Amino acid sequence: MIRRIAILTSGGDAPGMNAALRVAIRAGLYAGKEMYVIYDGFRGLVEGDIHQVNKEFTQDIINRGGTIIRSARLPEFKEDEVVERAANNLRDFEIDALIGIGGDGTYKGLCALSKHGIKVCGIPGTIDNDVGSTDETIGFQTALNTICECVDKLKDTSGSHQRCSLIEVMGRHCGDLAMHAALAEGAEDVICVEHPLKENKLFSKLRKMKAQNKSHAIIIVSENLLDIKDLADKISKQTGFEARTEVLGRLQRGGEPCAHDRILSARLAAEAVRLIIEEEGSKVVGMKKGDVVSYPIEEAVEMKHEHIHGLRHLIDMLQ
Ligand code: F6P
Repeated sequence: MIRRIAILTSGGDAPGMNAALRVAIRAGLYAGKEMYVIYDGFRGLVEGDIHQVNKEFTQDIINRGGTIIRSARLPEFKEDEVVERAANNLRDFEIDALIGIGGDGTYKGLCALSKHGIKVCGIPGTIDNDVGSTDETIGFQTALNTICECVDKLKDTSGSHQRCSLIEVMGRHCGDLAMHAALAEGAEDVICVEHPLKENKLFSKLRKMKAQNKSHAIIIVSENLLDIKDLADKISKQTGFEARTEVLGRLQRGGEPCAHDRILSARLAAEAVRLIIEEEGSKVVGMKKGDVVSYPIEEAVEMKHEHIHGLRHLIDMLQ
């Protein structure tokens, strides 16, 4: 019988993590369970930073960005001895199950714990939308809205100077933020891991736009692919557009979660608590085609994220 459940957030924080935390705690309390939080992700788990919480703890956090129980990255959590220390801390507190909110790295950590006899459940929370076992992750839509707000503002100044703006967005190794932002903003081009730079094609398109006296050009670039300053220099030299670069950085992770992410958090976290209480084995929850689904965690960590088909075609077609 499950009596005590703990929750942690791990990896890059994402808007909506607090909303998910709130639902998980409330759903657990509603089912008569004792609820605990762990500060600073797996690091706090290894250090035993584990605290019982009540309903008051969750007041006024539904709309707060970041994660009130903080997050951390702990590369050492791959080591068996570190995982065992974490599992022992949970046993010392007589905690029967752990819910982790985060991305791929978090799932790997949870999976390692499950191999050490801990029942776990993963909830996908990352702005990157790169988790294989779900179509959408908590935080993605909010980050996308933030990017669009920034690009809207950049368009004003870009148009006033007839410039080409190169805007670098996050996503780690996944192009979803870049592609969705490019479509939502009517960008001239998108460069991401799924659609790498085609320099000649881009330059000739920009030259043509310049010849037509177009007011500005917007290019969305995923992080970790290329040096946008170098590309901006080349554009300035070869196309007639004066190019400028903007790296949106961690601005994309901040801010109040949008309604979509709050609702997603509620659906996923409630299901995570139900699975922990009612079903055998360690799982992850996710969304597939609008429905809440779950997978055994060892299966989930092997799954590859599927992109929505046809976005690139739309971006090109709507030029
Ligand atoms: O995973 C979320 C994310 O924001 C990625 O998009 C980015 O590559 C990474 O985290 C940055 O991590 P950090 O803030 O630890 O440097």
